[in-house]
Amino acid sequence: MFSKSILSVAALAVLATATPLKRATCSNGHTASDEQCCVWFDVLDDIQENLFEGSECQEEAHESLRLTFHDCIAYSPSLIADGEDGGGGCDGSIMKFSDVETAFHASIGLDEIVAKQLPYALKHNVSFGDFIQFAGAVGVSNCGGGPRLQFLTGRSNDSNVSPDGLIPLPEDTADTIIARFADVGISADEIVALLASHSVAAQDHVEPTIHGSPFDSTPSDFDAQFFVETLLKGVLMPAAPDVTTLATGEVLSPLPGELRLNSDFELARDNRTACEWQSYVTSQSFMMDRFTAAMKKMTVLGNDASALVDCSEVIPTPAAAASQTAYIPAGKNQSDIEPACSATPFPTLSVQAGAESSITPVPS
Ligand code: HEM
Ligand SMILES: *[C@@H]1O[C@H](CO)[C@@H](O)[C@H](O)[C@H]1NC(C)=O
Ligand SMILES: *[C@@H]1O[C@H](CO)[C@@H](O)[C@H](O)[C@H]1NC(C)=O
Ligand SMILES: *[C@@H]1O[C@H](CO)[C@@H](O)[C@H](O)[C@H]1NC(C)=O
Ligand SMILES: *[C@@H]1O[C@H](CO)[C@@H](O)[C@H](O)[C@H]1NC(C)=O
Repeated sequence: MFSKSILSVAALAVLATATPLKRATCSNGHTASDEQCCVWFDVLDDIQENLFEGSECQEEAHESLRLTFHDCIAYSPSLIADGEDGGGGCDGSIMKFSDVETAFHASIGLDEIVAKQLPYALKHNVSFGDFIQFAGAVGVSNCGGGPRLQFLTGRSNDSNVSPDGLIPLPEDTADTIIARFADVGISADEIVALLASHSVAAQDHVEPTIHGSPFDSTPSDFDAQFFVETLLKGVLMPAAPDVTTLATGEVLSPLPGELRLNSDFELARDNRTACEWQSYVTSQSFMMDRFTAAMKKMTVLGNDASALVDCSEVIPTPAAAASQTAYIPAGKNQSDIEPACSATPFPTLSVQAGAESSITPVPS
């Protein structure tokens, strides 16, 4: 009896050594699961205050989220398998070689956010690849209903310039886009999930006469309005009055002041993506879960995720979504929806009260 309990105490001690408590006390007063996470508390405070102008979900947050994608997707395992230059994935190359990579047609406009982010990455001495993913995760956490994304640290600061042509364009067909993502191991359903990012998004460069025109009516909320509004009939061309043709990559929009990308239009209606698309309309939390899972995959492209350290604890907990279920914008009704999922009828949604109004641009 006596010797038995001695044994179990010894066994417990062995167990405790086998799973050491790694909690680190940081010099900034935080405690962290790993000392490599400490620096990110400082980065968080700095960018929330200064880059995101008081934790806002405005243009800098939107562009920071877009930047996570453009750094990661410039990666092609099939080119690498052919012995060609296939880029490095989420490696910070868009910041290190910003002169080259932000001049790619697909990345027009990203020079501004790269220039704004660079001083913070240098000041806190963190790798460019990690900084870009951190800023995107913090930026989207500032949006109402935003996700709390995983954040891993430890991406190398070494990178080479990515080849052009790997980042999807709004004029690309669904076939082209689905094939491009398949090359990096991202499925059609996961593309739809990633496009929840377009619920906190606006354009400046597709149709430059309507700077800041969002892709849905609620660009500061990470909600499912984007997935409803992309299915409304396109009826108008939002642009300055003297513009008479749609821009490249643009299709007819349902609402004044809102811009619709051809890529979003196609993916909303393609039979490989339409059912996933529609499935977000009745559940903001399902949309958020799918986005979080797809981002977990996208943000480590080109990296060995098992060698990275999980510092997700630093990412703030976002405020809840204003609405769990999407609605039809004022002035439209159920018959304006173009349902595209053959398996399931489009759900009946409530109609927002009031008269149709023009969508307000995102200030820059
Ligand atoms: C199907 C592939 C995609 C295409 C063709 C595409 C295309 C575009 C285009 C043309 C813009 C407007 C840029 C401008 O004129 O300023 C834009 C904005 C944006 N995109 Fe995408 N995108 C895609 C996927 C993604 C993904 C996967 C993410 C993130 C995970 C993302 C995040 C964003 C964000 C947040 C914005 C708004 C930027 C702002 O408001 O300043 N996009 N996208
Ligand atoms: C910055 O980080 C690099 C790489 O981790 C390290 O070698 C260097 O000593 C750091 N510099 C400072 C000033 O802490
Ligand atoms: C990352 O590389 C850039 C140069 O490309 C350098 O200025 C910066 O100090 C490096 N950061 C770290 C953490 O090594
Ligand atoms: C999807 O649509 C294409 C044409 O747009 C058609 O060829 C294909 O058979 C459809 N697939 C399914 C599963 O409905
Ligand atoms: C729905 O809206 C369309 C125009 O967007 C209009 O023509 C139609 O009469 C409306 N239907 C109902 C039932 O209000």
